[in-house]
Amino acid sequence: MNKVLIINGPNLNLLGRREPGIYGSQSMETCLAELRKLSEIEYFQSNHEGAIIDKLHEVGFDSSYAGIVLNAGAYTHTSVAIADAISAIELPVVEVHISNVHARESFRHESKISSVCRGVIAGFGLDSYRLGVEALIHS
Ligand code: DQA
Repeated sequence: MNKVLIINGPNLNLLGRREPGIYGSQSMETCLAELRKLSEIEYFQSNHEGAIIDKLHEVGFDSSYAGIVLNAGAYTHTSVAIADAISAIELPVVEVHISNVHARESFRHESKISSVCRGVIAGFGLDSYRLGVEALIHS
């Protein structure tokens, strides 16, 4: 059961081009190619809160997955609806962030989803995704 779904939220489709001083210059495609050497990875990105919730519902009861790695982007700090979806599903969800959100603006210090996630990884650049995948496939 080494299959993992990675979900990226808003603005993360611009990885590699978006604020490279904060998020680096590597694209998600390069990151996914590396991760696929470790594990079977499904990938979903959306800029829309409801689409992220739909994806959590769709996959969240599928026991062929070890779990879900979720970078909810700015919805991390605002979305009770995504938190409720994580609570509703059966698969474990690991919250990840590329940047160390606790070293940034104070509005990024609050997460609506941390308390319903299996764990939280932040601040390791795109390596945060690998750490999230490994946390799921080794637990
Ligand atoms: C982020 C941190 C969030 O505060 C921000 O809104 C993002 C990306 C990260 O990966 O560091 O979009 O989740």
